Amino acid sequence: MTNVAVIGGQWGDEGKGKIVDWLSSRSDIVVRFQGGHNAGHTLVIDGVTYKLSLLPSGVVRGGKISVIGNGVVIDPWALFAEIDAIAAQGVTITPDCLRIAENAVLILPIHGIVDRAREANNGTVTIGTTGRGIGPAYEDKIARRAIRACDLADPDEVAAKVEALLLHHNALLRGLNQPEVSAQDIVPKLLAIAPRLLPYLEPVWLRLNAAHHQGQRILFEGAQGAMLDVDHGTYPFVTSSNTGAGQAATGSGLGPGAINYVLGIVKAYTTRVGMGPFPTELQDEVGERIGKIGHEFGTVTGRKRRCGWFDAVMVRQAVKTSGISGIALTKLDVLDGFTELKICTGYRLDGQVLDYLPARSKLQARVEPIYETLPGWSDTTAGARSWSQLPAAAIKYVRRLEELIDCPVALLSTSPKREDVILVHDPFAP
Ligand code: IMP
Repeated sequence: MTNVAVIGGQWGDEGKGKIVDWLSSRSDIVVRFQGGHNAGHTLVIDGVTYKLSLLPSGVVRGGKISVIGNGVVIDPWALFAEIDAIAAQGVTITPDCLRIAENAVLILPIHGIVDRAREANNGTVTIGTTGRGIGPAYEDKIARRAIRACDLADPDEVAAKVEALLLHHNALLRGLNQPEVSAQDIVPKLLAIAPRLLPYLEPVWLRLNAAHHQGQRILFEGAQGAMLDVDHGTYPFVTSSNTGAGQAATGSGLGPGAINYVLGIVKAYTTRVGMGPFPTELQDEVGERIGKIGHEFGTVTGRKRRCGWFDAVMVRQAVKTSGISGIALTKLDVLDGFTELKICTGYRLDGQVLDYLPARSKLQARVEPIYETLPGWSDTTAGARSWSQLPAAAIKYVRRLEELIDCPVALLSTSPKREDVILVHDPFAP
């Protein structure tokens, strides 16, 4: 049996929701392995729209097990707010269908406070985070002072750990001229939510290894995207986790051999939210037009996304650093009606041509895109379900992308509807 990891190939928001939903309908277990409620997935099933942040997409489909792996940072209040919101839509989530890694790290109210205070401070780099405490929670994990979900079983331990953790964070808040946070603001809330969270906990790695050996199909659901990866992305303008396929193993407790196919979701153009370098950004009416047609507003924060041409250099880099086997190309229909389209094939920097994005942030901000121009198409690609339904110029555009990124298209999505897909290679097929 094949297990599939789905990851973002750009800066997130590539349209993973629809593809993950389609794949999750064909899998037995859906696993989140990194990130937290900074992610936002919109699923439309039988005309009903579900907005998920932290929950794996499998939860809205009956008969699946959803798993939140140890690589995820969990805000328990946000988790139960999400569970309650989808319960109001008729989807009941119980420990029978959702399992949470007992060793996953918790996001506490202090993490959001620190995240937002740092972002608001002039002396620190503004990243444009989602303000949800993701970065500070991962920092605590690596610094070995985090509260993990399993700690909630022992109230005394929770109190002692929160005191120790606040020593660190309050020093920072004092430096930022912000009010300090006391353990009394956090411990009672944690103890109050503990009885609700504890029944969901288990060593999920045991379950996943057993499922893998029994030949069940596992779908690893990535969040954000390759260029937001803390190692390989546009550091420091990144999220605080590894977003690549390797993290699917580490963040769930399976060996890397359990991931047989890596599907990279890639949009037919480029968007980014938050700050940071964006070589092909279009700050003109073309960028406005793409944003308007593509409804490029953030699911989590509602922020307007920055838009630009397809950057083949960046996606090729993502293909290599994330080990992408095939891509799902999304939102091709947004490009319908443009007379010409540009693709970035290289960068110019100080008279040199580069075929990769340099690591230094200042250089990333200075590279100039080298474009190749292709003719656009006037017919619509929306709703196409076979290559023969696509205009010749659209096929040429897709084929050129494949060549430049050195990776085949496995799936082409031509509208938000689930059925509007051209399937070239089934990621679950051996
Ligand atoms: P954080 O993950 O909240 O720390 O934000 C760090 C950066 O990642 C910011 O630029 C965010 O806009 C971006 N980011 C985080 N989650 C997502 C996502 O799901 N989609 C797109 N960008 C994201």
